[in-house]
Amino acid sequence: MTERLRSDYCGELRSDDIGRTVSVCGWIDRRREHSQHLAFIDLRDRTGIIQCVVDGSHDLRSEFVVRIRGVVRARPDGTVNPDLATGAVEIGDAEVEVLNTAEPPPFPMHDRTDVDETIRLRHRYVDLRKDRLQRNLQVRAKVNSAVRNAMERQGFTEIETPMLIASTPEGARDFIVPSRLKPGSAYSLPQSPQLFKQLCMVGGIDRYYQIARCLRDEDLRADRQFEFMQLDAEASFVSQDEVLEFIGEAVAEAAEAVTGERPGEIPHMTWLEAQERFGSDKPDIRFGMELVELTEIFAETGFNAFKAPCVKGIRIPGGGDLSRSRLDDLTDQAKQWGAKGLVWMRVEESELNSPIAKFLSEDELSALRTTLEAEIGDLLFLVADEHRMVRHVLGLLRLEMGKPPVNEGGLQFLWVTEFPLFETIGDDGSPVPAHHPFTMPHPDDMGLLETAQGEEVLAIRSQAYDLVLNGWELGSGSVRIHQGDLQGRIFKLLGISDEEAQAKFGFLLEAFKYGAPPHAGFAFGLDRLVALLAGEENIREVIAFPKTQSGADPMTQAPTPADPKHLEDLGLRLLPQST
Ligand code: AMO
Repeated sequence: MTERLRSDYCGELRSDDIGRTVSVCGWIDRRREHSQHLAFIDLRDRTGIIQCVVDGSHDLRSEFVVRIRGVVRARPDGTVNPDLATGAVEIGDAEVEVLNTAEPPPFPMHDRTDVDETIRLRHRYVDLRKDRLQRNLQVRAKVNSAVRNAMERQGFTEIETPMLIASTPEGARDFIVPSRLKPGSAYSLPQSPQLFKQLCMVGGIDRYYQIARCLRDEDLRADRQFEFMQLDAEASFVSQDEVLEFIGEAVAEAAEAVTGERPGEIPHMTWLEAQERFGSDKPDIRFGMELVELTEIFAETGFNAFKAPCVKGIRIPGGGDLSRSRLDDLTDQAKQWGAKGLVWMRVEESELNSPIAKFLSEDELSALRTTLEAEIGDLLFLVADEHRMVRHVLGLLRLEMGKPPVNEGGLQFLWVTEFPLFETIGDDGSPVPAHHPFTMPHPDDMGLLETAQGEEVLAIRSQAYDLVLNGWELGSGSVRIHQGDLQGRIFKLLGISDEEAQAKFGFLLEAFKYGAPPHAGFAFGLDRLVALLAGEENIREVIAFPKTQSGADPMTQAPTPADPKHLEDLGLRLLPQST
């Protein structure tokens, strides 16, 4: 039998190992010459670093791949490093065998300053060696495994759904794959397994789950990539509450696997309450600064700007010392968000100090102080407008003023329920679904489906729900429509003709004729959950090989120009690039 290269991992050696002859393998993290005949090498593998004392290291360079053999011994007094897990020991009398040489790394391995993202991604394989990414990918693996366990334990069956499909209605643009055998036609890559999981319910699978790769051609942001992973689930004969329990269990297990602590019961809030209190459908409840209703106070006001359908305010504790220029910037910002203006007031002992205070009555000023629970030194912001605009602007302002960094304030999960069925009225006069067209209306609002006129349809609630974590939308789901006649009514409301419905979802509608059980489901973004558990602001940091903001992969150069031969096979010709 050949001798094993490695007896131990670098980061696992401890005082208990003193006296053992070991063999460790990895990359040279640092090298320090002590004298002509004595050098220290920090050897790194995926578990951490061990200091090795070698007899000269002239031929060795950072990132060389080496095997080091020697005896574990206690570090001499005064040289113990309490910041390192292996800091009490070192490998002495070490003998180095170079397994491979390496070019100098393309960026500093230890610099705390941020290296340009494109360079990091161009050499992602080097970047991956760093502590932070190693740790994040371990967190990711733990989350996947915990989520899988939780779903299996709850009786869910893992089913794989296809990647080459017809379009799925999730609202983003599809990535398409042109067909060679049927020129001029294309497959879509799934934006989610939505329709297939519903078909699984018709197929009697009863409880489906999948750790599913989803693809959406949309503008990339810190919480968005073209390809991402969902924990996708669907169940038959269950209520909304049961779905929330299944999913709550999966995220709790994931959080516990990473942090060691099981999060408490997840609170619930309706969409309307979230909007009224936080000006958002994904409230970050790690901090207060809630929106306070002030409309009544100004019912009889002489100040024109406050003669509006809605006036709300927020209180910034201790914000009274914000400079005038910052307040001017915030006012400009609020206008960019759509506000007509932003009123600010510094809370002082004798007055509310504000350019508009002179337009308000004593009663109005004093009611403001009491209702906003203002204290000396605080700052108040007020916005007057239509309800939606007031919530929108104050919601964003609240985040601007109070949002804690990603790794502060713990993990605050929140269920947001009773989303509206429709988001807005589209240009063609038809309502636009807030989730997707298969979402079940709220049982108490069924009547409104028939009677609501114009904008009134926006008040119809649905059985759609989101899971929010620290102000990020983690996932969405709904109870689905399973009866053909109700689905037909919704399509009609949405302005989708029978022919269009047939063309887009004919297979689903047909399947529903063959005994569709009542069903409901949910999907949450694994990349987002992992990022928040790992304390990262950008999901790129928890994906082994992500794309840049502009959707490129600097390492493989994807997307690359299409090969003319491929295009010919597919019967495609490129249009000249428009300038
Ligand atoms: P939805 O479209 O809300 O719902 O997606 C669910 C969750 O997937 C994650 N997500 C993303 N993550 C990273 N990059 C993206 N581009 C991206 N897009 C979405 C988010 C989001 O909350 N089929 C429905 C679910 C259902 O009804 O069961 C769906 O896909 O975390």
